[in-house]
Amino acid sequence: MPEDAADLVSLNDFEERAHGLLDPGPFAYYSGGAGDEQTLRASREAWSRITLRPRMLVDVGDVQTATTVLGTEVSMPVLLAPTALQRMAHPDGETATARAAAAAGTLMTLSTLASSSPAEVASAAPGGPRWYQLYITRDRAISQALVDQAVENGFKAVVVTVDAPFPGRRERDLRAGFSVPQGIDAPAITAALGRTGGVTVEEFFSIVDPTLTWSDLERFAAECPLPVLVKGVMTGEDGALAVEHGAAGIVVSSHGGRQLDGVAATADVLEEVVQAVAGRLEVYVDGGVRRGVDVVRALALGARAVLIGRPVLWGLAVGGEQGVASVLELLRLETANALALLGCASPQDVRRAHVD
Ligand SMILES: Cc1cc2nc3c(=O)[nH]c(=O)nc-3n(C[C@H](O)[C@H](O)[C@H](O)COP(=O)(O)O)c2cc1C
Repeated sequence: MPEDAADLVSLNDFEERAHGLLDPGPFAYYSGGAGDEQTLRASREAWSRITLRPRMLVDVGDVQTATTVLGTEVSMPVLLAPTALQRMAHPDGETATARAAAAAGTLMTLSTLASSSPAEVASAAPGGPRWYQLYITRDRAISQALVDQAVENGFKAVVVTVDAPFPGRRERDLRAGFSVPQGIDAPAITAALGRTGGVTVEEFFSIVDPTLTWSDLERFAAECPLPVLVKGVMTGEDGALAVEHGAAGIVVSSHGGRQLDGVAATADVLEEVVQAVAGRLEVYVDGGVRRGVDVVRALALGARAVLIGRPVLWGLAVGGEQGVASVLELLRLETANALALLGCASPQDVRRAHVD
């Protein structure tokens, strides 16, 4: 960590510091959303509109943040979302993230488009719980090879991302002339494609299957040796379909506002999805979570846990493994503080009545 890191006391501070440290291209890629970035902005604002209803004179002398996700114990209801190409933020990339997540006692999701292989991540943090994010490819042999790598390397679940049959139009990338820097690779993809050397983001999306339907998903889930979560659900209708087609969990997500601009903030659709699935599977949410109070808002609306995307990249850019560790520790402290002041001794105590 840089010596002058003492003034980084919130995730927003990390974002500001990272902005000054990253090259304009990678910063544009990491920070940007699609189109006018309406959804990107709304994602953060919507959490702050949900007002909290704290209860007084509850014993909060011993607040615990631990919970379980699909039966795996984690130290807090905050997991790491899959984000591509983390080596652009720090040379250690996903391996630093994996070590920081494991040290914090929480779970990391590795992107299909990661710049470190599943094997590298597994050996960097052998004890850390991890999920593998998958894009199902036109040539099923490729996505199968990726699932095989995940299974071989001890990943506990496969998170199938369903909101990106094509990439969103991200204008910051275009304006910054962003392209993946020389020397940064997506090894799981190149290995699955049977080649060496780099792959561009556009090339990658050309192999993703845009014809995928719920029946394909059902077949995939039935054959997959690991539990399958569906990431990118934004309606109650699709929540119910995910249950019917064999999902073990749902991530309510707008891909951080990077896909369809104009969709609602995830904070505003979470409850609709939770009600539609009616307790039949675990529901997670991501998008714009930057504060412990956002974490408890999500819990009150029925999420099992939240995932954070960009703040991990800002931590990496500022201080590699230590930077990610600091981001996670800040959010853990804020979550514990928010629980206590809300009158909850643990995530399990948070109820719908704790928010308006
Ligand atoms: C730079 C970047 C790359 C991402 N790459 C992926 C990816 O490869 N697969 C995926 O499912 N989601 C990807 N996402 C979406 C995240 O998993 C997550 O949904 C989103 O970042 C959450 O919003 P937040 O950044 O506001 O926390 C990416 C997001 C960002 C910002």
